[in-house]
Amino acid sequence: MQILRNIAEVKDFLILNQGKEIGFVPTMGALHAGHESLIKKSVQDNEVSIVSVFVNPTQFLAGEDLEKYPRDEAHDIEVAKAAGATAIFLPDVSQMYPSDISIKAPSALASILEGATRPGHFDGVCTILAKFFNIIRPMRAYFGKKDTQQLIIVQNLVKSLFFDIEIVPCDIIRAGDGLALSSRNSYLDESELIEACKLYRALVKAKALVSAGTFSSDVIKAEMAKVLNPLKIDYIEICDRELNSINQIQIDKSIILIAAYVGKTRLIDNLWL
Ligand code: PAJ
Repeated sequence: MQILRNIAEVKDFLILNQGKEIGFVPTMGALHAGHESLIKKSVQDNEVSIVSVFVNPTQFLAGEDLEKYPRDEAHDIEVAKAAGATAIFLPDVSQMYPSDISIKAPSALASILEGATRPGHFDGVCTILAKFFNIIRPMRAYFGKKDTQQLIIVQNLVKSLFFDIEIVPCDIIRAGDGLALSSRNSYLDESELIEACKLYRALVKAKALVSAGTFSSDVIKAEMAKVLNPLKIDYIEICDRELNSINQIQIDKSIILIAAYVGKTRLIDNLWL
């Protein structure tokens, strides 16, 4: 696996691999089995797979965890290599941000759910991804459903800016107890890790209710809140696949999304059904 530290090295790598199908997996590092599954999918689908590791400052709000976000380059290189990546791109901030020019995420999609508590977050995500897409020019890019709103906004970004890139959605990878893997799980202590499973349990409860014929969003949300208790809930939302709020679940057209605090750590999870 090639280790690329600057844009010139990426360009040289791309020249050597001209004409090949390129898959791209953008990440912020602290790679876990969730990231690994995206890399493996890219390796299956493409001749060349490039993983980026970059803790993108513009998607963190003031007061968020930019400084303490877990960083472990040696580990990330190992994971990407073991998953079969052809190259890993590890740029620094000054290279990716020669100026503060930015892209604005679509306002309706970016102001709800995560955007309601994290205004500007998706502008930062769109800005860094547009830069990576322009540098790497992949044929396909891989995104986890773990960050469903991000996935939908990225689909909107490529459509609106005419990037000729197929966005490939990938399933959520979970620990044995159901907790969705996340780099931020490393902030949780032992008892918080147990509490964190309530997010998944609330989604399982919702699924069971739907299977038993309950489709009302209000009823499902109220039952999910009971499972999440006593966690501080940021939102429980039931939406269609374009993230419009819906009153009734429609099978194969709905998404249930949760954000809740476990101690000081804000976690998100969701279920497509
Ligand atoms: P990061 O949080 O590192 O996630 C990188 C990719 O891995 C995202 O597409 C995310 O949805 C996916 N992912 C994370 N946990 C997952 C899990 N448990 N199962 C499946 N996929 C999972 O998302 C970002 O970084 C950044 O916003 C980024 C897109 C890199 C832009 O900076």
